[in-house]
Amino acid sequence: MQDIRHFHPDMVALTGDLTNLGLLKEFQNARQWLLQQDLPPALLIPGNHDALIKENSAVKQALWAEWLHNRTQSEPAAPSLLVKDHVALIGINTAIPTLPFLASGKAGQAQLVLLADLLRRTRAMGLCRIVLLHHPPAPGIVSRRKGLDDFQAFQDVLRAEGAELVLYGHSHRAQITPIPGTDILAVSSTSASHIADEPEKSAGWNAISVHKQPDIWQITIQHRSLMPDGSLQDSQMRRVCRAHRFLPATSL
Ligand SMILES: [Fe+2]
Repeated sequence: MQDIRHFHPDMVALTGDLTNLGLLKEFQNARQWLLQQDLPPALLIPGNHDALIKENSAVKQALWAEWLHNRTQSEPAAPSLLVKDHVALIGINTAIPTLPFLASGKAGQAQLVLLADLLRRTRAMGLCRIVLLHHPPAPGIVSRRKGLDDFQAFQDVLRAEGAELVLYGHSHRAQITPIPGTDILAVSSTSASHIADEPEKSAGWNAISVHKQPDIWQITIQHRSLMPDGSLQDSQMRRVCRAHRFLPATSL
């Protein structure tokens, strides 16, 4: 967290699994931790661990309300949204209670319909659209029992409506994967807490910069990785995205 603060981010995106079992006490502890971080505007989406226990779900959601930027009562399936300057963070909830030994996720048809609408509206507003979901949006990144059941439907929405970037969690690895049939990249990070005994898994985060050019977004992704000496450094995962074409509202 010190390393993140050092970068003075304008926004923070948290891709889930702040708890182990989704216990009420864990949600309370996570709330205290989030408050202590004094984050800039942040969007948090739940992970599968946060959804393992259904009890007290409304209470637990209320504890994280400042960061979930949630869905309204009237539209419980609506994606969450956080806008700052020229960037829109759009959150999809794929966390569903699962049977033991499963960790799969699902966006659901109702949420995907609303996602398509939100992607259209935020594009018309001239925003850089960054979509967050916990589960990897393509097969082969995690095993099937941990995967997103309706990844095809999610990809269909992206193919139809576009997005500038996708961020996911769950895999505990820093990867950059193209979404099939699009020029959209899906980006993940290692966990925030893994000790540095395995370089490919050691704790890290992604510093992502978005610059608005006359007709493109220039997006740079820098993975920061925990070293055995306890410092964080730029890792070999550094990649620079191709610029994404910006579609002004007049072309819709
Ligand atoms: Fe997860």
